[in-house]
Amino acid sequence: MSAQIIDGKAIALEVRAGVAEKVKALKEKGVNPCLAVILVGENPASVSYVTGKRKALAEAGMVDRSENLPENTTEEELLALIDKLNKDDSVHGILVQLPLPKHINEDKVIMAIAPSKDVDGFHPVSVGNMMIGRPGFLPCTPHGIIVLLKRMGIQTSGKHAVVIGRSNIVGKPVSILLARKETNCTVTICHTGTKDIGSFTKNADIIVVASGHPHTLTKEMVKPGAVVIDVGVNRIPDASKKSGFRLIGDADFDDLKEIASYITPVPGGVGPMTIAMLIYNTLEAAENSIKK
Ligand code: GUN
Repeated sequence: MSAQIIDGKAIALEVRAGVAEKVKALKEKGVNPCLAVILVGENPASVSYVTGKRKALAEAGMVDRSENLPENTTEEELLALIDKLNKDDSVHGILVQLPLPKHINEDKVIMAIAPSKDVDGFHPVSVGNMMIGRPGFLPCTPHGIIVLLKRMGIQTSGKHAVVIGRSNIVGKPVSILLARKETNCTVTICHTGTKDIGSFTKNADIIVVASGHPHTLTKEMVKPGAVVIDVGVNRIPDASKKSGFRLIGDADFDDLKEIASYITPVPGGVGPMTIAMLIYNTLEAAENSIKK
């Protein structure tokens, strides 16, 4: 059996096209959806993510108030910028790209963003709202994964989902979203403290791998017909590429595509969905600003 490859790029474009339509309608009402993406320093992966986010923003017809700050920006300077953007009614969303340079306290920065503009869904208020099913911004990558499952028509109710990874950005929130009534999975979370991850994944109908390490999920660990969602973005040296590297996920794609029923590729799977859901959240933030 050969798996159906989940085309995250195509689904993300559909989501973005839907958002662009609604942006037009909002503009007619005099509201110009606006996002500020803040990048501190020049981490190559972050530069690449931020470039993708800003391109999507422009293509959705949104206003881009992004700022690239130097590596030596102080915590006070960054917090002052966030405060200024919080108070600016023409700005609907604020995103600070992570990771931040070591001299800046990430927690403090996340806490400084007004929850009404927290389009990343990282503020404790957003996390709490998600946890108890109240309205609020859902974190982009986990939400993107749920949308992929839905758009592919993959049955989730009553299925056993195993999540590998417990980060605040992916593992923990995707586990919560998978267990919500709407998705209705039974969820197991595996992490670096788990003994024999394969003993859990072998019983999984859906596996979300977000460990941050290549070859975390190998063919011996997956039951035939399982759905594999790969969140990994690992740069490995490749002399045949102009950039000198290529991207691989956390799962062994070539082996697993022969076993799984559905699988996301890297690149072109989960990654584009993160950007699409950011644009979606920014639209929601702009819509909420009228209701206020
Ligand atoms: N770094 C890696 N993923 C993300 C994300 O979704 N948002 C932000 N702000 N930083 C990230």
